Amino acid sequence: MTIKQEIERRRTFGIISHPDAGKTTLTEKLLLFGGAIQSAGAVKSNKIKKHATSDFMEIEKQRGISVATSVMGFEYKGKKVNLLDTPGHEDFAEDTYRTLTAVDSVIMVIDCVKGVEPQTRKLLEVCRMRNTPVIVFINKLDREGRDPFDLLDEIEKELKIKVRPLSWPIGMGKQFKGVYSLYEKSLILFDAGNKLNAENAVKIDDLNAAEIAANVGERFADKLREDVEIIESVYPEFVVDDYLQGKISPVFFGSAVNNFGVRELLDCFVQIAPIPQSRSTDLHEINPDDKNFTGFVFKIHANIDPKHRDRIAFLRVCSGVFERNKNYFHVREGRQLRFSNPTAFMAAEKNVIDEAFPGDIIGLYDTGVFKIGDTLTEGTKESFKGIPSFSPEIFRYVNNTDPMKTKQLNKGLEQLTDEGVAQLFTKTLNNRKILGTVGALQFEVIQHRLKSEYGASCTFEAINLFKACWISSKDKKKLDAFILDKSHHMAVDKDHKPVFLAESAWALQMAQEKNPDIDFHFKSEF
Ligand code: G4P
Repeated sequence: MTIKQEIERRRTFGIISHPDAGKTTLTEKLLLFGGAIQSAGAVKSNKIKKHATSDFMEIEKQRGISVATSVMGFEYKGKKVNLLDTPGHEDFAEDTYRTLTAVDSVIMVIDCVKGVEPQTRKLLEVCRMRNTPVIVFINKLDREGRDPFDLLDEIEKELKIKVRPLSWPIGMGKQFKGVYSLYEKSLILFDAGNKLNAENAVKIDDLNAAEIAANVGERFADKLREDVEIIESVYPEFVVDDYLQGKISPVFFGSAVNNFGVRELLDCFVQIAPIPQSRSTDLHEINPDDKNFTGFVFKIHANIDPKHRDRIAFLRVCSGVFERNKNYFHVREGRQLRFSNPTAFMAAEKNVIDEAFPGDIIGLYDTGVFKIGDTLTEGTKESFKGIPSFSPEIFRYVNNTDPMKTKQLNKGLEQLTDEGVAQLFTKTLNNRKILGTVGALQFEVIQHRLKSEYGASCTFEAINLFKACWISSKDKKKLDAFILDKSHHMAVDKDHKPVFLAESAWALQMAQEKNPDIDFHFKSEF
């Protein structure tokens, strides 16, 4: 196979949802179709339990186990599908945001009873930043959910995207009869009694065919015809290019737990989902078929065995071919590195690989040389953009409780924040260290890991902060004046970029209004 063919057959994507909408269940069903797992339950057992928030060791353990399932590669209809797992637990939302920088498209799962939920909203904002194409899967049709038209309206309004249904439900809950595929022009009947595969497809080209009423009853057949008429008149025709540009999202309906509507979703996905896309560095745009290898690290996973401090850095191949035992240039460190055991993740197994192509994700053993966002090249000095940190929401001062271990504490904080567990800020006036996270759980994880991996002890002290935001200005004098004026509320991040610490939404709003020449950013890249 040529490199071009290898690129064109790859589909690298992630599934996003608010916790409980059915992401894990859908993942599992897709993997069953792809032959990557043999039985249901294989993925579920790796899932971070939603309610076990106090048991962080359990969570860390599960995070460890989930290394193997962080990336799941499988073959389906001649395509190489790479599914990147995103943590469902919202305290790890930042992990999810970063994983989204390494995918070419996403499938968003929405619970038909609950509709759009807060986490869906946040995740979609991240997708919009890069115009990532989104396919929507409305799940749990076997439950009494909301009216499908209302759901579509809510998705459009709340998530600020345009949608186009490609399948349509017939009934819902106890009355759920199946879906009509507007894409394949077939009726797919729901067989509630068959949990493993509740599908029974009937090919129907004509919506007026008597076969429909014969299968779902006169009343539902009429309703379907009415609904389809509305769909055809209200929603634009589905154009694949519009989807690829992130302008429109096709919508499917189904029930993941019943394995219903999943095959249609996957079949359509492999047909229309984007192949590996180009990505920008600070110098220029890198195309997947560029000859030279490039890639970036979007996730770092610590080894859960405290005796080994090595980590796995997950790298997305962006161009060229990655080869085992070849020297590559680590741009930030300015040095050559060679990898003798790069791993790929196929069919829930971790294997050492000899080569990888654009769109692939590989695991590199890391002894502490990588930071999230790092770029590897064949020698060029350029770095990929678009792997930002996001404004954290929870803050604590770090108090060193073992001054003899100050060095270890600093090293631990440095390395754990390189991994992206939290963000480290240093207050300008008194040099106090502040950790910022998206979830409260991280503090427990950090405290535990500092002790077990670095032998350092610390406590955390609450700070009353609303948001940390990066600031910049075209006018350097005005920026300096702002930093001086707000010196009590200023810190720097790990790259020494100035960060304004707003105590409240009101304080932030006032600072913005009074300083129109200062730009406030809610992610580290601007
Ligand atoms: P998540 O990863 O998005 O958090 O969701 P997950 O797949 O774990 O699904 C959340 C719950 O919703 C699970 O129930 C799952 O079985 C259920 N679910 C998923 N798809 C459907 C569906 O199509 N219909 C219905 N009725 N339920 C669905 P649970 O009780 O939390 O777990 P379990 O004990 O059933 O495994």
